[in-house]
Amino acid sequence: MFALGALFTAALASFALAKPNPASAPVSPRVLVFTKTEGFRHDSIPVAIDQLRKYGPEYNLMFDFSEDAAIFSDANMTAYDGVLFVSTSETILNPDQQGVFTKWLQSGGVYSGVHLACGTQQNMTAYKAAVGALFEYHPEQQNATFSPLTKDHPATADMPDQWTYSEEVYFFQSDPREMGATVLVTVDKTKLYNPTENPDEPPKSGTPHPIAWYIEKPQYNYTVEGAPKHGRSFYTSLGHSNETWMTDTFMFHLLGGVTWALDGASTRAYQVGIIGNNTTPPPPPPPTPKEDNSTDTGAGYIKSAASPSYMAGGLVAGTLALATALLLYDT
Ligand SMILES: *[C@@H]1O[C@H](CO)[C@@H](O)[C@H](O)[C@H]1NC(C)=O
Ligand SMILES: *[C@@H]1O[C@H](CO)[C@@H](O)[C@H](O)[C@H]1NC(C)=O
Ligand SMILES: *[C@@H]1O[C@H](CO)[C@@H](O)[C@H](O)[C@H]1NC(C)=O
Ligand SMILES: *[C@@H]1O[C@H](CO)[C@@H](O)[C@H](O)[C@H]1NC(C)=O
Ligand SMILES: *[C@@H]1O[C@H](CO)[C@@H](O)[C@H](O)[C@H]1NC(C)=O
Ligand SMILES: *[C@@H]1O[C@H](CO)[C@@H](O)[C@H](O)[C@H]1NC(C)=O
Ligand SMILES: *[C@@H]1O[C@H](CO)[C@@H](O)[C@H](O)[C@H]1NC(C)=O
Repeated sequence: MFALGALFTAALASFALAKPNPASAPVSPRVLVFTKTEGFRHDSIPVAIDQLRKYGPEYNLMFDFSEDAAIFSDANMTAYDGVLFVSTSETILNPDQQGVFTKWLQSGGVYSGVHLACGTQQNMTAYKAAVGALFEYHPEQQNATFSPLTKDHPATADMPDQWTYSEEVYFFQSDPREMGATVLVTVDKTKLYNPTENPDEPPKSGTPHPIAWYIEKPQYNYTVEGAPKHGRSFYTSLGHSNETWMTDTFMFHLLGGVTWALDGASTRAYQVGIIGNNTTPPPPPPPTPKEDNSTDTGAGYIKSAASPSYMAGGLVAGTLALATALLLYDT
């Protein structure tokens, strides 16, 4: 019993690592983490990949990692609910791949980007609509103080009111609010050493200075036939260093934003869209009470496996069965 108690405590503790899943998702959304670079390459990319591998399952996310632009084909991309561009740089997709990506975004695909993702595909209209604003420059890395503008969002719910650490503070070619963004995080510019900015000119990035934001309706031209709507977007300019990726504060911020964007109900993971992975096997069938005719449950289960409500029911029943089993064992 002690051993079991410890196991249960350990399970609870590992649960506490992350904020809850996007609860409405009946299956795990599948997300392509793309890290190809043509220009500057951040040495934090391997640490970013390790951390995403570690945290993904806590958020019910299936991550695939790639640096191969050939993955941007219709056949490959139809499996993905979301993409997460992590410190990608410059032009990494050829014109055909850009066309595939644009169509995927207009089909409900969900875009999230981190740090230099805004310095990628600068000539691709749909990419700019997805990310919200493109990179212009950053002053030298320094200790900066970031603040959430709201805590009423999964990306900022766990962020301290004043979060000070060493980061590259990005400045943009335009204000992401012009592209429909809602800014979630800002920086205290009064404490920032930035000789590049001319204080006599209105700041190109807008005010308050945008550090992380979301876009409910990215401004693509149209939605492809059959898609309920465009996917949401989320972007954070934080995430330069290994040290940052190793903090819970950053990972909760990032994955809070990514799961919020996926939860916009535009893909098959949410049983509404025309793209995405809705083929994750359902949980095993719940044990049935012993009855004379209970032997045919297997076939019945397979027939109804496509129904999301049945799957949700199976999950609840499975959880109850597990809880019952634990209780029985414990006595
Ligand atoms: C960050 O981590 C990577 C992978 O472990 C390592 O190669 C790199 O040197 C680290 N960067 C710094 C600045 O320590
Ligand atoms: C899928 O992506 C891989 C690269 O990851 C590529 O080699 C392959 O050709 C793509 N498949 C199709 C059907 O486009
Ligand atoms: C969905 O995800 C499962 C589990 O990773 C995988 O086996 C399956 O091939 C995926 N389906 C599609 C359409 O990508
Ligand atoms: C984008 O287009 C402009 C104007 O045609 C060109 O000067 C610039 O080099 C292009 N940038 C990239 C990254 O391709
Ligand atoms: C909108 O359509 C025009 C004309 O076809 C095209 O040049 C532009 O790239 C499109 N924008 C987006 C965001 O897809
Ligand atoms: C940031 O502050 C810490 C602690 O005060 C200090 O050790 C570090 O050198 C500072 N980093 C930078 C880049 O100024
Ligand atoms: C199987 O049992 C259920 C519940 O007891 C009952 O409603 C159903 O009619 C039975 N089916 C057959 C084929 O006996």
